[in-house]
Amino acid sequence: MSDPIIISVGGGKGGVGKSTISINLGASLVRSGFSVGYIDADLGGANLHTCLGMRRPPATLQHFLTGQCKSLSEVAVKTPIPQSWLISGAGDFLELANPNFGQKQKILSGIKNLKADYIIVDLGAGSSNIVSDFFAAFPNSITVTDCLPTSVENAYGFLKSGIYRGLVRLFPGRNEIQKFIKDFTADKSGQRAPTIDSMLAQMNAKYPQEAEQMEEWLNNRKSFLILNMVRGPDEIRVGEGFTAIVQKYLSVRLRYIGYLIYTPEIRESLRTLGPVVLQNNPKATECFMAIARNLTALLR
Ligand SMILES: Nc1ncnc2c1ncn2[C@@H]1O[C@H](COP(=O)(O)OP(=O)(O)OP(=O)(O)O)[C@@H](O)[C@H]1O
Ligand SMILES: [Mg+2]
Repeated sequence: MSDPIIISVGGGKGGVGKSTISINLGASLVRSGFSVGYIDADLGGANLHTCLGMRRPPATLQHFLTGQCKSLSEVAVKTPIPQSWLISGAGDFLELANPNFGQKQKILSGIKNLKADYIIVDLGAGSSNIVSDFFAAFPNSITVTDCLPTSVENAYGFLKSGIYRGLVRLFPGRNEIQKFIKDFTADKSGQRAPTIDSMLAQMNAKYPQEAEQMEEWLNNRKSFLILNMVRGPDEIRVGEGFTAIVQKYLSVRLRYIGYLIYTPEIRESLRTLGPVVLQNNPKATECFMAIARNLTALLR
């Protein structure tokens, strides 16, 4: 089996459907013949097991961090979806919600050694350091938002924090470069918002090699957008406007791979426990199968 394709799923705003999309996208990939791993990286608020219709797994990331489980694969449990496993982030210790640098590195390198065709990493809400670190650590990311302006704004903030965090992380111990990047992003009220392109141009004048490294990191990323809770044709277009803004300010080619309609059955599927893709909901299933098709075509 070749290396897994790891994709983070985030979006800034709480409750926009990150976990719903993670689970159903995974189920759609299984339907398409792939094996799938789920990682619940919503440390402190992990509930992916509940969305999958499972009890809290006996071992979690916490057992891996404390050494009770030697490898992450020991923590993985089968889910009710065939050909899939889950690693849960649920824990009792509050400190898991904010792991230190060494703990994060241990989790991140452990994930890269797991086996599956696709690994879906469900991130928590917000744009905290831990969320941004997980976003930046994997080259593929899905941003989820609903169509409300507040959610779109938070999705932009999530992407911006993750991208800048990833760029800063390229230069460990290089304080002058890190300061250059951080100063550039600092909110200068009254001035036009900075763009990554303009930062790269300034960087290139002063530190050409580092500017090239940053450009390469940005070019190697694959970034996708899924719009959730769409209630009509007008809302579908929100995704196009958002990708244009992200391209302009963050120099990220965000590919709009599909949308999920708003349907009460999706909320209901939480109560009946399980992905809608495996239940009888043709419209939602159609949305997810189209998303899975677009995603796999672009990741090939
Ligand atoms: N397309 C949809 N139509 C109807 N309800 C939806 C849809 N997508 C998600 N929901 C419902 O919205 C609620 C929040 O979804 P979910 O838990 O997936 O969001 P989240 O972004 O993971 O939240 P959190 O930030 O708390 O992790 C759930 O009750 C879910 O069933
Ligand atoms: Mg969630």
